[in-house]
Amino acid sequence: MTTDQQTPPNETAGEYPKFYYPPENVVENANVTAYAREKGFANADELYAWTIENPQQFWGEMATKFLDWYQPWEKVLDDSNAPFFKWFTGAKTNVVHNAIDRHATGANKDKAAIIWESEQGETKTYTYAQLAAEVNRFANILKSQGVEKGDRVTVYLSRVPELVIAMLAIVKIGAMHSVVYGGFSTEALHSRIEDAKSKVLVTGDGGWMNNKIVELKKITDEAVDRAEDIVKSVIVLKRTGHDITMKEGRDHWWHDLAAQPGMDDPCPTEQMDTEDPMFMLYTSGTTGAPKGLVHACGGYQVQVATTLSFVFDIKPDDVYWCAADPGWITGHSYIVYGPLMLGATEVIYEGAPSYPNPGRWWDVAAKYGVTILYTAPTAIRGLMRFGEEWPNKYDLSKLRLLGSVGEPINPEAWRWYHRVIGKDRCPIMDTWWQTETGAFMITPNPTTPLKPGSGTKPFFGIEADVLTEEGEPATGADDGLLVIKKPWPSMLRTIYGDPKRYVEQYWTRLPGFYTAGDAARKDEDGYYWVIGRIDDVIKVSGYRLGTAEVESALVSHPAVAEAAAIGLPHELKGQAIHPYVILRQGFEASDALAEELRKHVGKEMGPIARPETINFVPGLPKTRSGKIMRRVLKARALGLPEGDTSTLEA
Ligand code: WT7
Repeated sequence: MTTDQQTPPNETAGEYPKFYYPPENVVENANVTAYAREKGFANADELYAWTIENPQQFWGEMATKFLDWYQPWEKVLDDSNAPFFKWFTGAKTNVVHNAIDRHATGANKDKAAIIWESEQGETKTYTYAQLAAEVNRFANILKSQGVEKGDRVTVYLSRVPELVIAMLAIVKIGAMHSVVYGGFSTEALHSRIEDAKSKVLVTGDGGWMNNKIVELKKITDEAVDRAEDIVKSVIVLKRTGHDITMKEGRDHWWHDLAAQPGMDDPCPTEQMDTEDPMFMLYTSGTTGAPKGLVHACGGYQVQVATTLSFVFDIKPDDVYWCAADPGWITGHSYIVYGPLMLGATEVIYEGAPSYPNPGRWWDVAAKYGVTILYTAPTAIRGLMRFGEEWPNKYDLSKLRLLGSVGEPINPEAWRWYHRVIGKDRCPIMDTWWQTETGAFMITPNPTTPLKPGSGTKPFFGIEADVLTEEGEPATGADDGLLVIKKPWPSMLRTIYGDPKRYVEQYWTRLPGFYTAGDAARKDEDGYYWVIGRIDDVIKVSGYRLGTAEVESALVSHPAVAEAAAIGLPHELKGQAIHPYVILRQGFEASDALAEELRKHVGKEMGPIARPETINFVPGLPKTRSGKIMRRVLKARALGLPEGDTSTLEA
């Protein structure tokens, strides 16, 4: 099997312990321990076994434990039309009721929901009541722009509280958000607007990153110009205050719309069917354009709330910080919806981890007394390189739990995180999941003995396995396909506009099972080790990019006839993009052209997609049917055997 990462080292014989055990007080006080005891179980393992026998009872209990419903469900799971599974059918709900409304009128009214700090040092705090008022106002603004239930609204903003407010307001009125990460650029934004057919787009004049302005509005203008007949209204948040162009009739300042009469009138939260779509989020897949994954109103919130409570163990006094971007699924589930559903206080920081110096994150963590920190291996590796003296300058003693997501974490980075940041006292929750799964699937909880680099075992109610292509259990040191054997509440429901692709992509490789697209290994203790993607997805700094998107960006340059992109290992980013390019007649390979192409991809897709190198080649290895064999390019680049090349064109 072709994989992206090296198999994790076998550490049982090394100088390090096999297991890192969580401190006793953490286990004793964990939310999950309380629930296990309530159910009459001695520990989390016994609880897990019960949830696998009774998944519907388990998820049903979670749905009442963590959430309110306008109307109860008839069935927890309807599997009559698999793989189009339905959850909590017959119920009425809205996640905004659970995340906002009930807190704003209840005991959490004056509790801080969001503490925001910008790179430039501005700070802002929203209590639950204040957040509710902002969400209400923006919901009215959206309605004034013609947004109705079922409409798709594209949101393209930097990491500001208004991004969270916009998302919540969209869902409040029963529309769907399609958030495009603020680090993406023109073509990435355009293709997502085009596919979602969003009449309304929410953006800002700009955002801050590394003391530079990200030209959100300028990029929006270019993207919308390519989709002129679709977007009728662009709502612009004033953030940086620098000069931008506003197009008469199409563009409106957020604050001007907010000043319209009636915007503070109460806007009812729409009562949704559980299977109504809640949002879509584009992600890169094996082939072609990014696909809009659709999540539904009922099940998504149940699994997000449950996993956040049982894995990150949120308690009323916690200060939780997920350093991801709301523009990715991590931010959707564990910045926007999860913490607010649980009535938590969370920190949102806009900007780069190392601005103005590599102590910035630790400064933020110390300043707000962060107790739970959730980030990605790439950020840890990046900060690690500046040395321990930076974190050691700050008081990180409030930290209780740490988290990691996005790609496998190298044991070396894990140990640094555990020792230097967590002072050997904070268990690390290495959470494996995907845009598709909506919430954690394979993850420790605070009672789990840990192995650095392993996401440990499936979450309660989740049945997973590692299988061969033939559907047999992969044994010993062999890699296999990571599969999920039973439906789960926060699963994607379909690919927007393409249900056939949903079935083909996820449910046909091993019929009856969901194939995740990852290679994995299960060790002798039943611990899972995710090795990497087996498809054409490249993970750059944990961000998911498709070879196809990078290639079409390259081919849109007049010099390029054909391109093939592969991901190769990179010390900080995990993987970096290395395209192979065939030039059109009349163009000559040069360093200047390579630089121009790198910039071009950065401009079309976004800085994260900028290739590391450009390799000019006269031809590409192809199958006889004309498919580029990226696998062969990769093997050649890494000096590895080329594998089965029997289909390679002579
Ligand atoms: C892919 C999904 C889920 C939020 C962020 C990524 C990789 C994710 C881990 C982890 C090893 C991981 C997988 C997966 N991945 N978390 N803890 N250990 N690999 O979501 O962009 O949809 O990417 O990220 O390869 O398939 P995504």
